[in-house]
Amino acid sequence: MSTPVLIHGDCMAEMARLGDNSLHAVCSDPPYGLVEFSPGEVGKLRAGHGGLWRIPPSMDGCERRPLPRFSVLTPEQKKSIETYFFQWGTVLWPKLRPGGHVLLAGNPMLQLYVQAALIEAGFENRSTIMRVYHGFRGGDRPKNAEKEFPGVCVQPRSNYEPWMLFRKPIAENTVAENLRRWETGGLRMLAGGKPLPDVILSFKTPENERAIADHPSLKPQHLLRILVRSLLPLGTGMVLDPFMGSGSTLAAALAVGYDSVGIELDAAYFELAQTAVPRLGALYPGVKGEFLDDNTAASGEKIREEQSLIWDELKAEANLTTSDTSVLQAGLD
Ligand SMILES: C[S@@+](CC[C@H](N)C(=O)[O-])C[C@H]1O[C@@H](n2cnc3c(N)ncnc32)[C@H](O)[C@@H]1O
Repeated sequence: MSTPVLIHGDCMAEMARLGDNSLHAVCSDPPYGLVEFSPGEVGKLRAGHGGLWRIPPSMDGCERRPLPRFSVLTPEQKKSIETYFFQWGTVLWPKLRPGGHVLLAGNPMLQLYVQAALIEAGFENRSTIMRVYHGFRGGDRPKNAEKEFPGVCVQPRSNYEPWMLFRKPIAENTVAENLRRWETGGLRMLAGGKPLPDVILSFKTPENERAIADHPSLKPQHLLRILVRSLLPLGTGMVLDPFMGSGSTLAAALAVGYDSVGIELDAAYFELAQTAVPRLGALYPGVKGEFLDDNTAASGEKIREEQSLIWDELKAEANLTTSDTSVLQAGLD
């Protein structure tokens, strides 16, 4: 395995310089609405006021981190997501091997635009993997009329993050032939021959990881190691993160033992990634994404904590009776 390669620049321009068929897979957390990481919006985020970023209302006295509000995007801005990802997919196409997978973090309100664009660019829509965790978006009451309409919310409360899975079509007659020639076409199974599930129980990014990489969209190593590991079916090859941020994908690749390359536009986040990738990658040395519930402080206990939080909240919010919960519980088991 070689040292992760970090590139400072615009991903479209930098991807165009990569060698044809040099990538086995892509794993990334793009700017969901494109605009939230534009220089103007990042300036407002760093200044602490204005723009698309908002601190969610405090519900339990805990300090909240800023989150972008995608509900305010205009129809034109949503259309521009589709236009952008079509061009992005077109630039990526020759660089990715036939049968290579692309896994992109999404947002329930915006994922359809990204999916439409990448299908138009020629990729197959393979699945959506749901990262189940206790989010803070949604559930808001009608603004300035909360008392007038106490029983109304404008959006469901968010408890999952979709990760959209695409594949560049295989070039050979069968997946087996594609695996032999290109080392791509399938997904790597978890330990014990278990297929990757399309629902993964997760949790908010732990504070010890945030202390290393203070990026507003930092993803947890537990989740990323499972996802990144699954993308190389034969356990070898090159993974790209074109919207690298502080480098959590590259850190996961490092921990799993994969080659990786990352691209980041923002100079401060690029600088942060240079120190964060080796430090995040060195955390939890036994956790290599082979199990859904590695028994470490960063996963096992956290998962159980989140599971009970989600469950407690479901019960409290729906005010369910004992018989109602038994029906739901049967479905969840
Ligand atoms: C949602 S964040 C990813 C954060 C990452 N998940 C992490 O854990 O640090 C998206 C990143 O893409 C970067 N970005 C936005 N447009 C870009 C572009 N055209 N090329 C490369 N990076 C870009 C932003 O600066 C931001 O850091």
